Amino acid sequence: MPMVKLVTIPVEAREDEKAVKWLGHYSSAQSILVVGDGDLSFSLALATAFGSGEKLVATSFDSYVHLISMYSKAESNVAQLKRLGATVLHSVSVKKMKKRTDLKPRRFDRIVFNFPHAGFIGKENQVHMINAHRLLVQRFFRNASKMLHPLGEIHASHKTGQPYNRWEIEGLALEFSLLKSEMVAFRKEDYPGYNQKRGDGDRCDEEFPLRNGCTFKFQRWPR
Ligand SMILES: C[S@@+](CC[C@H](N)C(=O)[O-])C[C@H]1O[C@@H](n2cnc3c(N)ncnc32)[C@H](O)[C@@H]1O
Repeated sequence: MPMVKLVTIPVEAREDEKAVKWLGHYSSAQSILVVGDGDLSFSLALATAFGSGEKLVATSFDSYVHLISMYSKAESNVAQLKRLGATVLHSVSVKKMKKRTDLKPRRFDRIVFNFPHAGFIGKENQVHMINAHRLLVQRFFRNASKMLHPLGEIHASHKTGQPYNRWEIEGLALEFSLLKSEMVAFRKEDYPGYNQKRGDGDRCDEEFPLRNGCTFKFQRWPR
C-alpha cells in the first residue's frame, strides 16, 4: 500500500497569507476603484503590494487601443494587473461612470483619482483651463459620491499653491456633501512602480513635477 505523506502548514503561515497588506493609505481588505490612472502604474503598485488585485478595479479614460499607443508600459501594466486578478476597464469617464452597467451595482471603500487634469489646452493659470479642471473634478465628485460605501472615502491627489488652489476642490466636494477629513503630502516613494503621467498631448507619457502634491481625503456627511 502506497504511503501517503501529509504535510501540515503551520497555523501562523496560513494566517500570514490572509494578513491584510497595506500600501500608503490603502489596504488589501478595501474595495478600491482607481480612475483616470494614466498608464495604470498606480493600480499596479497596489495590486503588486497586496499580492492580489481581487478587490481592485483599475480604469483608464482612454480606450485600450489608444492607451497602449500613448504609454510605453501600459500594455504590460494591464497584463500584470489582470494576472493579479484585478478588474481592468477602459474608456471610463469620471463624468458619467455611475451609469456604467459594469460599475453601477458596486460600492467602493476607496475611490481614487490622482492628479485629475482636463488636458493641455492653454496655460494652467488661464481661467478657461481652471474652469475645465473644476468641471472635471466636480463631475468626479458627483459620480463618485454615488458609488461610495457609506463609510468609504474619496481620495483626490492634487497640487497645492498657485494656480492649483484656484480649483477650490474642497468647495466642489461640499456640493455633494463630501467633507474633507484629512490632507496629507503625496509621497511617490510610498507607491513603488508608480509613474505620474502628464496624460495628454505629444508628451503624455512624460512625468510632471509632484511638488506640493497632496492627497485630499473626503467622506460623505452625514455618515
Ligand atoms: C495629469 S494626468 C494623471 C494621470 C494619473 N492619474 C497619474 O497620476 O499618473 C490626468 C489624467 O486625467 C485623466 N482624465 C481626464 N479626463 C478624464 C475623465 N473625464 N475621466 C477620467 N479620467 C480623465 C486623463 O486620462 C489623465 O490620465
